[in-house]
Amino acid sequence: MSQSYQYDVLIIGSGAAGLTTALTLPAHLRIAVLSKGDLSSGSTYWAQGGVAGVLDDTDTVESHVQDTLIAGAGLCNEAAVRFTVENSRSAIDWLIEQGVPFTRNDASAAQEQHFDYHLTREGGHSHRRIIHAADATGAAIFTTLLANARQRSNIELIEQQVAVDLITSAKLGRNDSHADNRCLGAYVLNRASGEVDTYNARFVVLATGGAAKVYLYTSNPDSACGDGIAMAWRAGCSVGNLEFNQFHPTCLYHPLAKNFLITEALRGEGAHLKLPDGERFMARFDSRAELAPRDIVARAIDHEMKRLGIDCVYLDISHKPADFIQEHFPTVYERCLTFGIDITQEPIPIVPAAHYTCGGVVVDQHGHTDINNLYAIGETSFTGLHGANRMASNSLLECFVYARSAANDIAQQDAVTQSATDLPEWDASLVTDSDEDVIIAHNWDELRRFMWDYVGIVRTDKRLLRAQHRVRLLLDEIDEFYSNYRVSRDLIELRNLAVVADLMIRSAMCRKESRGLHYTLDYPHMKDVAQDTILRPAKVDG
Ligand code: FUM
Repeated sequence: MSQSYQYDVLIIGSGAAGLTTALTLPAHLRIAVLSKGDLSSGSTYWAQGGVAGVLDDTDTVESHVQDTLIAGAGLCNEAAVRFTVENSRSAIDWLIEQGVPFTRNDASAAQEQHFDYHLTREGGHSHRRIIHAADATGAAIFTTLLANARQRSNIELIEQQVAVDLITSAKLGRNDSHADNRCLGAYVLNRASGEVDTYNARFVVLATGGAAKVYLYTSNPDSACGDGIAMAWRAGCSVGNLEFNQFHPTCLYHPLAKNFLITEALRGEGAHLKLPDGERFMARFDSRAELAPRDIVARAIDHEMKRLGIDCVYLDISHKPADFIQEHFPTVYERCLTFGIDITQEPIPIVPAAHYTCGGVVVDQHGHTDINNLYAIGETSFTGLHGANRMASNSLLECFVYARSAANDIAQQDAVTQSATDLPEWDASLVTDSDEDVIIAHNWDELRRFMWDYVGIVRTDKRLLRAQHRVRLLLDEIDEFYSNYRVSRDLIELRNLAVVADLMIRSAMCRKESRGLHYTLDYPHMKDVAQDTILRPAKVDG
């Protein structure tokens, strides 16, 4: 039997953004944090690099702002950049107060850097400003925040719950005007019971991460299906800049290694990119060489791989002392060793892979979406911070700054927001069990392959058109399947991925220039005027 639940705040997603929101909200609010798998199944846990911030006395807000604007290739919203960077110190102080075990400096380095914690460098940053926990920062942050959330009696952490769709007053025909549209909760598949439950909530927060799983090769865990973006779009929210998909330049290339990232901090600490014959090639593409922003490095690698017909290039840090490598990069060292690669002695085979969704649900500085009482934070959202290319380690920072801002906003709205009554239960009376799940598996594979081939690092009009034809066919087929059969996690994720893929293709088709992460052979130059690509839903699905 399906169930109905009532909360003050429903947070969909249990990563850095979701947990930070939950921990910042006032303790009198009843909060549900949903995870569609285990609590650690999101991207946060896998983040290696760190959190960027203005921490050292010799660094400045202006310098971090300018680096972000440059990496964003003229498309960042400067107000969002300033807001994020100005709040970086307080967000990181909050993490330290929470007990995150960031890597400390030894005494002499602390004096030199004017800061107790070790700061590393990554591409695009003109300063050492990345606070980190060795090379497993996401795991350290997640573990700490989760332990703290478990201590709070007002926070319920609920695993294996897959959100299907948002419930809004517009869908229920309860609005006088479009501006009245309000989020009332969500329908959620309980994977244990197989039933779709109704969550009634006064505030809903989408913290579901990005959509890198839309590509065949990705650094992300399986959960990165763009769920929040697709749900918000179906409910009537605008989305922005979804053509900007970041490909991380350095993912381990090995037949048995699925999704393993080699952190950019290796390049920050002096690793070289090399061709199979040992030639360093990055200086041919950019004067910053290995420390150029990711779009440039990924494109350079893609170019060299295609030019030489090779399967991978190499990242080499073996010229550094072995104990330095083992101390700073224990996760990468151990993981590579399991594949027989000793990174203290030999270069690491690497390829670029889809890593980060720069666009998302349009929000303001409090994480408000177009729908009242619906917030989006972290990779799900489009704040304007990243512009056409996210700078490394600005994304975790964005999670903390915007999650805290959204939580404070909810706290302020708390007194004046009533819960809705009588939400209808999910209607499963017209569907049956699927007899052909092969369609789902087939469509998953097809979608991810054509997105990789046609909407990848280098695009053309023709490739985008091909991708659009295919995604439209898939959307029709998925809609039909969704209308006739009981929902499952795979079907929900496929439906969301197809919606987001369509939005990415449409956004890419709108951009008749090359800028940042969007590079097309048909329009190789950047226009003088930078404009966001904002898509608005024409109709709101029921
Ligand atoms: O390379 C990395 O460690 C990734 C960092 C990031 O995506 O911000």
